[in-house]
Amino acid sequence: MQSSEAIHPERLGSYDQQSAGYWLEQMISTHQEKHTLCVSFQHDIQVKVRHLTESIVRLTVQAGSDTDSVPSPGITPLAAQPFTIEENQSSVVSRFGELAVTISNGSPASLSISDSQGVSRLRVDSIRFFADGSSQLRLASEAEADYFGLGEKTGWLSKQGSKTVMWNSDVYAPHNLETEALYVSIPYLLKLDAKGATGFLLDAPAKSEWNLQKSHQEITITLDTGAVDFYVILGQDAKQVTERYTELSGRMPLPPAWSLGYHQSRYSYMSQQEVEQLAEEFRSREIPCDAIHLDIHYMRGYRVFTFDANRFPNPKKMVGNLLEQGFHIVPIVDPGVKRDVEYTVYQEGVSGNYFCRRLEGELYFGEVWPGISAFPDFTSSATRSWWGEKHKFYTQLGIQGIWNDMNEPAVFNESKTMELDVMHQAEGRPQPHRALHNLYGLQMSRATYEGLREQLQGERPFVLTRSGYIGVQRYAAVWTGDNRSFWEHMEMAVPMLLNMGLSGIPFAGVDVGGFAYDTQPELLARWTQLGAFLPFFRNHSAIDAIRQEPWRFGEEIEAVCRAAIARRYRLIPYLYSVFAEAARKGWPVVRPIFMEAPGDSTARTVADEFFVGRHLLAAPVLRPQQRKRMVYFPEGEWVDVESGLTYSGAQYHIVDAPLSHMPLFARAGAPIAETDVYSHLQFEHQDVLRIVFYGHPVGETAETLDLYEDDGHSFAYEQKNAYNLVRIQSKRRGNEWIVTLDLVHEGYSTPYTYRELRFTGAAKCWQIDTDYRQDGDDIIVQLPVGQTSRLILRPM
Ligand code: GLC
Repeated sequence: MQSSEAIHPERLGSYDQQSAGYWLEQMISTHQEKHTLCVSFQHDIQVKVRHLTESIVRLTVQAGSDTDSVPSPGITPLAAQPFTIEENQSSVVSRFGELAVTISNGSPASLSISDSQGVSRLRVDSIRFFADGSSQLRLASEAEADYFGLGEKTGWLSKQGSKTVMWNSDVYAPHNLETEALYVSIPYLLKLDAKGATGFLLDAPAKSEWNLQKSHQEITITLDTGAVDFYVILGQDAKQVTERYTELSGRMPLPPAWSLGYHQSRYSYMSQQEVEQLAEEFRSREIPCDAIHLDIHYMRGYRVFTFDANRFPNPKKMVGNLLEQGFHIVPIVDPGVKRDVEYTVYQEGVSGNYFCRRLEGELYFGEVWPGISAFPDFTSSATRSWWGEKHKFYTQLGIQGIWNDMNEPAVFNESKTMELDVMHQAEGRPQPHRALHNLYGLQMSRATYEGLREQLQGERPFVLTRSGYIGVQRYAAVWTGDNRSFWEHMEMAVPMLLNMGLSGIPFAGVDVGGFAYDTQPELLARWTQLGAFLPFFRNHSAIDAIRQEPWRFGEEIEAVCRAAIARRYRLIPYLYSVFAEAARKGWPVVRPIFMEAPGDSTARTVADEFFVGRHLLAAPVLRPQQRKRMVYFPEGEWVDVESGLTYSGAQYHIVDAPLSHMPLFARAGAPIAETDVYSHLQFEHQDVLRIVFYGHPVGETAETLDLYEDDGHSFAYEQKNAYNLVRIQSKRRGNEWIVTLDLVHEGYSTPYTYRELRFTGAAKCWQIDTDYRQDGDDIIVQLPVGQTSRLILRPM
């Protein structure tokens, strides 16, 4: 005898959940609710349009009577603005500023976003909802468009032809072109075409799959669950769109200067003695270093907020002594709290109701380093405050930086994460993990940052995270997880970090030297040279990998690494000014070549070199035994900062790339701020500030450096305007070369009384209209801090 189950649709194989879907189609009515345009469609679907700025619009498309979709915590909410509306039989158009949205009726209906010229920049051809709660968008595409962004992804700079998944994942291996999901998800595409630059941001903390394999025709995005909630951002070029996109996703607060220095890490430095010896080694070998990271072995049985008393008998003394020598200690803190009834953090988490639970009430447990563990529910502000406060354990010892790991969250099971039906409280809007997965890392970093910020009493915190979502830059720097000591992984780091920068994350880096596997001497040397120009610069290696501190491979490699690290330290005033620009405008610290050469179609194809700010072009050596490399230079002239050789732009050149240093070029005649090399970064002790001009400018457009100066460690820049902004411009006017210094803002008293302007090689062919001295062929002018200036150089 059979039951009805015999005719279960799945048994018959005819049941296709996806075919049970329906489209966004057949417009029924429109109305306005304050500054929201609401358009109703068949199947009870609502489209809501909110113009947020003159160039940013938010569109939500929801089926059923779901409550209005709220922006996730990844978004910095912007208020909706009034707009105009035009309606006819087949479409409705809303307009504000330079952006118009056209909703065209039909089966399916489409949504098109156009600019002030009436040119369509992005079109959603269809949206389909499926019975299982998933949905799919099809974006129209054209062959000439190119796509970038998508956050932390493997592969090339251009995302054309890629397929990817936004689902924060602990992927120890592999990281290759088939690895569709990594630790961070930024569901954001930057589209470049002849019409300009357009950003598309899907606010989807749940899983989404992006298929750009047919991007010459269409892009499909499949969203596992939740409302279709997206933003379109218009601009002329990548820089403008990135600035606007970060209005929405937020910008990095200025990090402490020390976090821009060199960090040394290892899984794990096992004892206090080992850490102290390591620090000594850096100082005695005269290799600059600002931070040492403590991996999981510092803890008692991997319990967060503890130190192992045998291995680290006196952490307070250790932290204090190291701080005096200019080292910051950055301990790792994972989210998993060991299930141990005698452990206060666990007790507090249970009694305070801070851990994730199932709907029915039981705690969720998963296995991570400490064994069976509970996981804080960081979507709840009460949990975040509790977690933040727990960091007193570290801050009382003098610690100012925390490393957040395993916060996808990673769990040692088949799915590699929390079960999808575990609940998150999300401030009174409880939702299952399936819907909010990608927020976990963001919210953990937020808890950490906010806790540290409160406790450090005016000192800037540093947080490093492995996982994140839109807006993670507001709280933390990101490193890209467990890479390998392979040349291929070093090469992949460049486009990955460039796309992260375009996705709003300016402060990011990779494990220099490679995490897993044994690094090789030449690889470490080249990687250190590259790392010195990446925003976050940390050497880190795995427990079973060969030691890879800079001195582990003999004197030659040590000297190369020392020189590479010192080069970064010398350029810190420039780099810090670029960071300040990232904090102000959201522009990446490291930028694809096309970002500084928007009209140049060759520049769009270059994925193995990059700009640091606008004026330094880094051309890392990414292959073994290579002593020359091809470099594409955009329009202008470029000076090899080591040899002084000049290259003219808008073409490729083959340049020398000896093992001793990475090819680095300065925009000819542009201002680059430098200092002397110190063992660590403490701006109060930096008594030299040099503005170096490599070569002379060729164009009449002024090349600008907004030199930014402050104490490098407090929030006085924000609270008391205690910073300087000096606009330095350099340009040609006929035969003359004019350099101006304007004090845009003065609020910080520098340790130096003069700023030194150095014109390299200029004594051979230029004369200057002011007092100067000569150093070899360099002309040097000393300008008292606080003095504006206009210098004219004339050919001899
Ligand atoms: C994870 C991290 C790695 C760390 C290790 C031990 O694999 O990605 O950086 O060293 O855990 O904590």
